[in-house]
Amino acid sequence: MFITLEGPEGSGKTSQLPELAAFLRESGYEVLITREPGGTPVGDQIREILMNLKNVSIVPRTEILLFLAARAQHVEEVIRPALAEGKLVLSDRFGDSTLAYQGFGHKTDLATLQALLDFSTGGLKPDLTLLVDVPVEQGMARKLENSSEWNRLDAYALAFHERVRQGYFALAEAEPERWLIIDATEDKASVQQALRTAILSRLARHGV
Ligand code: TMP
Repeated sequence: MFITLEGPEGSGKTSQLPELAAFLRESGYEVLITREPGGTPVGDQIREILMNLKNVSIVPRTEILLFLAARAQHVEEVIRPALAEGKLVLSDRFGDSTLAYQGFGHKTDLATLQALLDFSTGGLKPDLTLLVDVPVEQGMARKLENSSEWNRLDAYALAFHERVRQGYFALAEAEPERWLIIDATEDKASVQQALRTAILSRLARHGV
């Protein structure tokens, strides 16, 4: 089963993942944790280009194609093989980040983006997507507290990040079967519990 974690900046989803994976392993599942952009040696090199604060000249179309290039590699090299082995794949971001950030955030035409996205994933879609949600100002404040995490993409204006958040809500509303919204304004332990409950109930529904 393929599970993705999505969310605006500073939602804390990345720091929840190791504990979540450990819990699922203890529950008897074979788990692979991965992330985007990245997840492969080629993808990590693309990630460095995308995040580097020096690369101020990157234009939106270049940004899109770099995310999608990293994703194509990620799907073929990591995600599909792991799913074929029956593993539970947990990815920190996937295609919905492109729709939320490049589509809603940068206002790229969504139909064009969806076609490019399908090309990059070869049609692979998550079985479950958890939207780890936090209001923009709270999330950005959390990120600023830990300035080592600050990257080129965080430097976009607050209005951009608000469109991203609203974009996530629109995506979740369009596919309620796939999405679950987790309130990440709660303390870390409560968010962890909510993530565990969401995943276990979906696994039970899939009979896994
Ligand atoms: P993160 O590792 O902190 O989640 O950073 C990844 C950044 O890249 C974050 O700002 C979201 C952004 N992003 C996109 O804009 N589009 C994408 O397709 C992906 C995967 C990430």
